[in-house]
Amino acid sequence: MKKIISTFVLCSITFAISSCGDNKKEDKYGNPVTTEETQSATEDTTKPEATASLAEKGKEIFDGKGTCATCHKVDTKVVGPSLQDIAKIYKEKNASIATFLKGEEKPIVDPSQFEVMKANFALTKTFTDEERQALEDYVLSQAK
Ligand code: HEC
Repeated sequence: MKKIISTFVLCSITFAISSCGDNKKEDKYGNPVTTEETQSATEDTTKPEATASLAEKGKEIFDGKGTCATCHKVDTKVVGPSLQDIAKIYKEKNASIATFLKGEEKPIVDPSQFEVMKANFALTKTFTDEERQALEDYVLSQAK
């Protein structure tokens, strides 16, 4: 039994040494060679030059799929209050348009007409938080 163990130990040692030797790379003169990782200095070209600001994205939604522009103009009241009025009041009260559009906040601009605006929540609730935030940024950016 002892012999078997010592043979095994000897084998392991031999194996360890030889495998260790295998890992060493040498050039044709017998000098150790360190393999350098060829790291290509590729710059991240997949990133767009500059991501459009949230407010710009908000304007797109406002005029586009949000259909907000049919009832809201920048400086005049149409069906809904002007963006300038909305921005002024939301800034004064430090309230969140994004939360309002989620249907989780009471109206603070023209509560008497809230029912008309409320119909849009069916749409704005399907938007992502980022899209609602973009709309908020756009509306607030229209403050006088
Ligand atoms: C059908 C017409 C209509 C559309 C479309 C519409 N709104 Fe309105 N909106 C109103 C009316 C009317 C009010 C005034 C009632 C009120 O203040 O809630 C209002 C009020 C608001 C207010 C102020 C809410 C408050 O605190 O009183 C915000 C903010 C607003 N709209 C944003 C939007 C955005 C963003 C969109 C597009 C996603 C949109 N609206 C689409 C009619 C509309």
